[in-house]
Amino acid sequence: MKILRTKQALREALEPIRNIGLVPTMGALHAGHEALFGTARAECDAVVASIFVNPAQFGVGEDFKRYPRREDADVRLVEEAGVDFLFVPTVDEVYPAGFGTWVDIEGLSDRLEGAVRPGHFRGVATVCLKLFNLVQPQRAYFGQKDAQQAAVLEQLVRDLDLEVEIRVLPTVREGDGLAASSRNAYLTPDERVAATALPRALLAGENAYRAGRDPVGAAQTVLAEETGLEPEYLELARFNGRLHLLAAVRAGGTRLIDNVLLEGALE
Ligand code: PAJ
Repeated sequence: MKILRTKQALREALEPIRNIGLVPTMGALHAGHEALFGTARAECDAVVASIFVNPAQFGVGEDFKRYPRREDADVRLVEEAGVDFLFVPTVDEVYPAGFGTWVDIEGLSDRLEGAVRPGHFRGVATVCLKLFNLVQPQRAYFGQKDAQQAAVLEQLVRDLDLEVEIRVLPTVREGDGLAASSRNAYLTPDERVAATALPRALLAGENAYRAGRDPVGAAQTVLAEETGLEPEYLELARFNGRLHLLAAVRAGGTRLIDNVLLEGALE
C-alpha cells in the first residue's frame, strides 16, 4: 500500500490507474469503515482511502481538536482491508492560504444535522468535491449511518454533473446494537449503556412503521425511558426516494446520530 501526503504525489500515483473506488474517512477506523473498504475492494480495480479530519465541517465548540487521531492503527487496518493507496493530507495541503471556494447544497443542508450544525454540510461537500477531483474515482463509498450526508453528496453529484457513482452501504452495528462510530470512544461505560437506547428506539420505530403505527411516537417512547440520553431530534425524512427515521441524541458530552431505513433501497 502506498501512503500519499500531498496532492501532487496522489495525482502522480493515480495517473495510470482506472476504475478507482474512493472511501473518504476521518480516521479512527472501525468496522463501518472496513465494510466500505471491503465493498470497494470487491467492486473496483483499485481502492483509494483518505484520512483527513476536515476542520471545515466542525463548528465552533465542536470536537475538532479532540477527534480521535490514530494514524498507526489506521494504516494497519487499511492495509489489511486491501486498500491500495492511502491519502493523508495536512490541513494546509487541503486548504492552503487564500482558499475561498465553498459548495453549498441548498435546502437539504439546512435541515436535521444541518440545522444543528450550521456549515457542516458545506464543509463535507467541499472536501468531498476536492477528493473527487483529485482521485477521479468511478465510485465513492459512504455509509447509511450518515444518511443525510450521503443524500447531500448524491445531490452534489447530480447538480454539478460529476461522473462519480455514489454507493451507500448499510450501517454496521456493534454487539449491543450501537452503530459503529469513531465518536463511541468518547463514551463512559454508563453512557455507552444509555446510548444503546438510540438503536432500540429506532428499531421500535421501524417495527411500529411496519405494523402501520406511528414510528416517531414509538421511538420517542423508548427514548423517553432512558434518562441518560438527551434527544436532539427524532424525525422522518425522505432522501432521494428513501424514507428514513433519523435521530440525534447527546450522551453526556457526546453527540450520537443514527437512523433506520423505512422505505426504499440503498444504491
Ligand atoms: P467518517 O465519520 O470517518 O465516516 C467515513 C464514512 O464511513 C462515511 O461515509 C460514514 O457514513 C461511514 N460510516 C461511519 N460509520 C459507519 C457505520 N457504522 N456503518 C457504515 N458506514 C459507516 O463521514 C465522514 O467521515 C466525513 O464526513 C467525510 C465523508 C470523510 C468527509 O470529511
